[in-house]
Amino acid sequence: MPKTGQLAHRIVGAAAHSSAVTRLLQRLSVSAESDKGPVEGTFELAVVFPLRPQKRSGKREINNVETAGVCASGRRDMNALGGKTAVITGGSSGIGLATARRFAAEGAHIYIVGRRQAELEKARASLGKDVTAVQADVTSATDLDRLVHTVSSQSGAIDVIVACAGFVERATLSSASPEHFDKTFDLNARGTFFTVQKLLPLMRDGGSIVLLSSGMSCLGIPGYGAYAATKAAIRSFSRTWAAELKGRGIRVNTLSPGPVDTPMIDSGTKTKEQADAVRAMYVAMTPLGRLGRPEEIASAALFLASNESSFSTGIDVVADGGVTQL
Ligand SMILES: NC(=O)c1ccc[n+]([C@@H]2O[C@H](COP(=O)([O-])OP(=O)(O)OC[C@H]3O[C@@H](n4cnc5c(N)ncnc54)[C@H](OP(=O)(O)O)[C@@H]3O)[C@@H](O)[C@H]2O)c1
Repeated sequence: MPKTGQLAHRIVGAAAHSSAVTRLLQRLSVSAESDKGPVEGTFELAVVFPLRPQKRSGKREINNVETAGVCASGRRDMNALGGKTAVITGGSSGIGLATARRFAAEGAHIYIVGRRQAELEKARASLGKDVTAVQADVTSATDLDRLVHTVSSQSGAIDVIVACAGFVERATLSSASPEHFDKTFDLNARGTFFTVQKLLPLMRDGGSIVLLSSGMSCLGIPGYGAYAATKAAIRSFSRTWAAELKGRGIRVNTLSPGPVDTPMIDSGTKTKEQADAVRAMYVAMTPLGRLGRPEEIASAALFLASNESSFSTGIDVVADGGVTQL
């Protein structure tokens, strides 16, 4: 009988030439043995090798990066958030939506939160049945109370918060108005603070809180003074809250994306030409020479939300194409 590593190699070779990959994997895995006994049925997920995302059993998308990880180790938990409940603010668009999609694929029940009902509905319809959409403005205490009530009455408790709702508006020091400053801090800093405060009583011990900061928090890019400062505040929240909540085993970390191609770039500019110019500026300043994809940030969010990061608290995970590091 083949050992795990031999089996993986055989399957890889066969899969590259076969369109009936799933049947082949099931047959081979049944007869395989590892050094510690029979290979688990989930080993069948290991090899899906075509160069574009593949669907398995019509539900879960597996990409090549994950697949490679499974081949190397012979096993990979594809249910990293099974049985967990997660609240994702800003879950109707961009990074939050990609995170909701990834978390749902990893077995979580998701609450997505945003202000625009139509966007929420569209997102919910695209995400599947384990998703509840809650229309709420995270700058409103009343809305946050309603969110807490909804989650509490439907799920009782939560395991993960991803505070992703955010907003950017460019204004230099000389041109910024008090309204610009207040609006930016109200959503990004204050909104994040009270989202977590209000949801905290629902959190199970051992939960994970992920706050969306930004590479901007440690860069000096003209026009982003207020925005970058809110993201630095969020970075600071994670350190303090990690210390405050460690006794309950609740981990608090930030995730700092670099430039990611989302609707935020368009909503943060007034014309298509301006949005194109901002995209071009970001590409030029990013060592990897491109914008990030929301799905790439969702992968980092999954790491922080799941037990994959069980020994990490108070840290900042950077996913920025090298923009703050090189
Ligand atoms: N894109 C990037 O390059 C980048 C880089 C670094 C960090 N980030 C951070 O990542 C997070 C997500 O950004 P994104 O690019 O995915 O933006 P996005 O596509 O514009 O999504 C923003 C989300 O936040 C929601 N939202 C905005 N204001 C809200 C409010 N007051 N209450 C509740 N929900 C609200 C939006 O829904 P509604 O408008 O319907 O409320 C939407 O779902 C933000 O915190 C952002 O600062 C983004």
